[in-house]
Amino acid sequence: LAGKTAIVTSGPTHEPIDPVRYIANRSSGRQGHAIAAALARLGAKVTLVSGPVTIPAPTDVTTVHVERAEEMRDAVIGRLPADIAVFVAAVADWRVATASDQKIKKQPGDAPPALMLTENPDILKTVGHHEKRPTLVIGFAAETQDVENNGRAKLERKGADMIIANDVSPETGVMGGLRNQVKLISKDGVEAWPDMGKDEVADRLAAMIAEKLA
Ligand code: C5P
Repeated sequence: LAGKTAIVTSGPTHEPIDPVRYIANRSSGRQGHAIAAALARLGAKVTLVSGPVTIPAPTDVTTVHVERAEEMRDAVIGRLPADIAVFVAAVADWRVATASDQKIKKQPGDAPPALMLTENPDILKTVGHHEKRPTLVIGFAAETQDVENNGRAKLERKGADMIIANDVSPETGVMGGLRNQVKLISKDGVEAWPDMGKDEVADRLAAMIAEKLA
């Protein structure tokens, strides 16, 4: 992948409720970070746009830290064009419509505050239909049911070349864990990979990307 540029999103996003509270999810960033590192090992110039994670940023990768989905979108769009984009981040679908700029106080006798949510931008869908669309756009689909069908629908809707679907039901241990079992869904059909470490998924995916761009 020498001479190729790649953007990878990774981790969760944090959507503020007020200055001290946020909405988040269990994504660790392990799979996204591993993919960024694997692409870099094959010679790509990689920008990793990471939500808040506790794992270290890979070496040989330019890492941009963001917190909210809107910040992640701006960071990604601002770095186009690129040859490859892989959207691994578990972006929050919703944010609080009007986050409070002061800490919401609990007052004796008051009813609990109601949180009004609004939809976040879909970064993959935006890039999949962008005038500067990368040559290869790959998304992930974390599902807990009907993994294949949901993945196929997403391929179309988001303008992706491939959707990598994985089952994140709690019993799989995938979300936050070290292993992953994925299905690669493209217009050519579905390819199921065996259960393996997230680093191995990353290496195989990077090799496949290199082959596709060769
Ligand atoms: O629709 P869903 O969230 O399941 O789609 C998952 C894919 O879309 C992932 O690749 C994820 O990174 C991306 N996505 C995104 N922006 C969003 C929601 C999802 O880039 N707001």
